[in-house]
Amino acid sequence: MASSTGRKVTMSRTIQTVEDVLRLLDSFFSDDADRWTEVGADWWNDFYCDRERDVPFFRLAPDDSLVEWHQADLLPAQPNRRALDLGCGPGRNAIWLAQRGFTVDALDLSPTALDWARERAAEAQVDVNFVQKNIFGWQPPSGSYDLVYDSGCFHHLPPHRRISYRSLLENSLAPGGSFGLACFAAGSMGSELGDEDLYDQRSLFGGLGYTENELRTTFDWLKNIQLRRMSKAPEDGETFGESFLWAGLFQRAASAPKPLDPTVPGSTPTPT
Ligand SMILES: C[S@@+](CC[C@H](N)C(=O)[O-])C[C@H]1O[C@@H](n2cnc3c(N)ncnc32)[C@H](O)[C@@H]1O
Repeated sequence: MASSTGRKVTMSRTIQTVEDVLRLLDSFFSDDADRWTEVGADWWNDFYCDRERDVPFFRLAPDDSLVEWHQADLLPAQPNRRALDLGCGPGRNAIWLAQRGFTVDALDLSPTALDWARERAAEAQVDVNFVQKNIFGWQPPSGSYDLVYDSGCFHHLPPHRRISYRSLLENSLAPGGSFGLACFAAGSMGSELGDEDLYDQRSLFGGLGYTENELRTTFDWLKNIQLRRMSKAPEDGETFGESFLWAGLFQRAASAPKPLDPTVPGSTPTPT
C-alpha cells in the first residue's frame, strides 16, 4: 500500500494488550543484551556449560540471608509450605529449601542450568520440581506459594518487566506469604544508568544496580521485614554471600488487596 506521500507502508497493528506493549519494549534491546526472555536462554546455556568455572554462585551453597532468615524463624514454617524459586539456575537455593521441608517449584530459562540442578537434587535425594519456563509465563499448578524467592534474576530484568514482576508476585504469593530477594546493589555492582537511558542504549549492561530506596519503592506494596547488604561469605563455607548484593525479605498482608490492573489508566498500587 502507498501512503499519500507515495511512501510504501506496511499495516501492522500488533499492539492490542499490555503484554503486547511489554513485548515490544523487550524487543528494544538487542539479542546480545537479552538475559530475560527465551532468546536469553542461549546466553545462559553458554554461561553454565563449564561447571568448573570460577563463579561464586556455582557452589552448591544457599544464600547466607536465606539461612539467616530461617534460623531467625522469619520464613514460613507451617506444614505443607510451598516455595517458588524464580530463575533458580543450578538449584542451590531450591534444593536447600526442599531440604527444609518446602515443596518447591523452581523455574529457569536455561535447560543447561536445569540439567545440573536435577543432578544435584538427585545426589541430595530431594524432590524439586524444576521447570524450564520463563517466570512470566508460569501458572502455579496448585495455588499460591508461602515463599517466593529470587536470587539474581530480578536485576536481569529490563525496567518495564517490573510491571510483569509485580503481577507475578500478586498472582503467586499467598496472603501472609514471604518474598525474598537477592539483587545487585547500586554503587557496588550493576548498571546505574537511569531507566530511560537503558532504552536509549538498548542494553542493560549485564544487570541493573538498585539503591535501597529504589527497592523500597518497587516493593512498597509489601511489608518490608529486612533489607540489608549481604556479607561476603568464605568461599569454602556452607553458605553463599557477596557484599555487592542486597538481601531483602518482604511479606504480603494476610488479607491481600485486589491486584493492580495495569490496563486501567490511573490505577495506583494499594499500599498494604
Ligand atoms: C544470576 S543467575 C542466578 C541463578 C540462581 N538463582 C543462583 O543464585 O544460583 C540468574 C538466572 O535467572 C534466569 N532467568 C533470567 N530471566 C529469567 C526468566 N524470565 N525466566 C526464568 N529464568 C530467568 C537465568 O537463566 C539465570 O539462570
